[in-house]
Amino acid sequence: MSIKNIKKICCIGAGYVGGPSMAVIADNCPKIQVNVVDINESRINQWNSDNLKNLPIYEPGLKDIVEKCRNKNLFFSTDIVSNIRSADMIFISVNTPTKTKGIGAGQASDLKWIENSARQISKYATGKTIVVEKSTLPVKTAEIIKKILFDSKSKDNTKNFYVLSNPEFLAEGTAINDLQTPDRILIGGDNCDAINSLKNIYLNWICKEKIITTNLWSSELSKLASNSFLAQRISSINSISALCEVTGADINEVALAVGMDSRIGSKFLNAGPGFGGSCFKKDILNLVYLCNYYGLHEVASYWQGVIEINDWQQNRIVRIIVEKLFGTIADKKIGILGFSFKANTNDTRESPAIEICKELLDEGAILQIYDPKVEQVQIKTDLGKSSLKWKYCKSIFDSAQEADAIVILTEWDEFKNIDWREIFQSMRTPAWIFDTRHICDFNMLNSIGFNIWRLGKSS
Ligand code: UDX
Ligand code: ADP
Repeated sequence: MSIKNIKKICCIGAGYVGGPSMAVIADNCPKIQVNVVDINESRINQWNSDNLKNLPIYEPGLKDIVEKCRNKNLFFSTDIVSNIRSADMIFISVNTPTKTKGIGAGQASDLKWIENSARQISKYATGKTIVVEKSTLPVKTAEIIKKILFDSKSKDNTKNFYVLSNPEFLAEGTAINDLQTPDRILIGGDNCDAINSLKNIYLNWICKEKIITTNLWSSELSKLASNSFLAQRISSINSISALCEVTGADINEVALAVGMDSRIGSKFLNAGPGFGGSCFKKDILNLVYLCNYYGLHEVASYWQGVIEINDWQQNRIVRIIVEKLFGTIADKKIGILGFSFKANTNDTRESPAIEICKELLDEGAILQIYDPKVEQVQIKTDLGKSSLKWKYCKSIFDSAQEADAIVILTEWDEFKNIDWREIFQSMRTPAWIFDTRHICDFNMLNSIGFNIWRLGKSS
């Protein structure tokens, strides 16, 4: 195949990865038509909504790009078939959650959506098509995609497929910035021309030194390894946070001292209620599953430990809250500030808030939950059956009404400038603040009369 001049891209999946990443490609490549398709009609309607506040994803900077490119060279549609048919390059950005049943349940990724996408591509694509894996996937998924595609090629020799792995490293909340100025772009594949076609797209805004090419399996594994390393750092610092609380050391001071070693580096050393998000846990579980599959049981249990510390961190925060509130929280009101898994996103997937809230509800507490971006219906879905004894609050003040405690779970900027005097007046005393994100001014809260527990600091 000669280097293909890509004129039309189709992206299957208009979610947190597909939506923003295609918006940024469209913005930087005005000559390429980018069609983002999804089976979820209401999601597509949200992407096409006149009111840009209704986009399905909250991501700083996204609205402006959508406003600029939509219906010019960026289109959102449910017409999957014709957009596959006309595409020179197809990105697969569908969901790959952890399997809930069958072989590998609780660990392996469910590849049903990937397989469906590959089957649709094999049926409807025409001529030479470059197929790019964007979703995070277990190593060797490209093999499955290839098998499905090459089977259809053998029936119709006018079709030809080239499979690439191009994992996305964006973090939610900073997605647009990460996409505009990424640390690196990784392209894995075995066909140089296909690789160069994709590389040429990125060269529109990213310098060539940042674009690395590898074989397919290195690319797939690098994504799993990167996320696992990042998650491991968080579990490491969280494990030390518990030790700080009992020894009198201060986690922020320790993180500063450790992070100033240039070999370690200072990023990703913020202790907190544990990592959430759609990737970290899923990717480590995938790694664990793969290691066990290949008989590397010691390696599997090493990585499993990262998840165990993460779960333990959430459980121990609940235990501390109960203990501080005289051993029982039955029928006590507790304000929850923040439900998303981190600030600047409305995403709640694997948010530590879910497990912490469920456990507090199990202990009998009445939760008053406020988050600047997460909608009530999402919290209802996440809390499931335990949904009776919680209330959705429209403000920080509402969530504090008659509460015995406030638990800060997400580091939203809005929580950094709270009028705590006013809040104190509306709470029952002794009034407690549990700050799991280090955003409160201890001396100020203390002078108002609050009892304060801060993660990673002795009381
Ligand atoms: C992550 C990776 O960063 C990204 O490269 C990959 O593409 C997808 O997974 P994301 O899950 O969006 O991105 O967010 P990230 O900023 O990595 O945070 C993940 C979780 O770790 C959050 O719950 C966050 O609060 C927590 N975290 C992060 C900490 O507790 N401490 C830190 O120092 C950093
Ligand atoms: P991610 O965070 O990986 O982007 P999301 O769940 O936000 O995951 O988005 C994945 C999107 O993929 C969903 O909107 C889902 O409806 C869509 N999707 C899944 N399977 C298909 C398919 N076969 N065709 C089109 N869209 C699909």
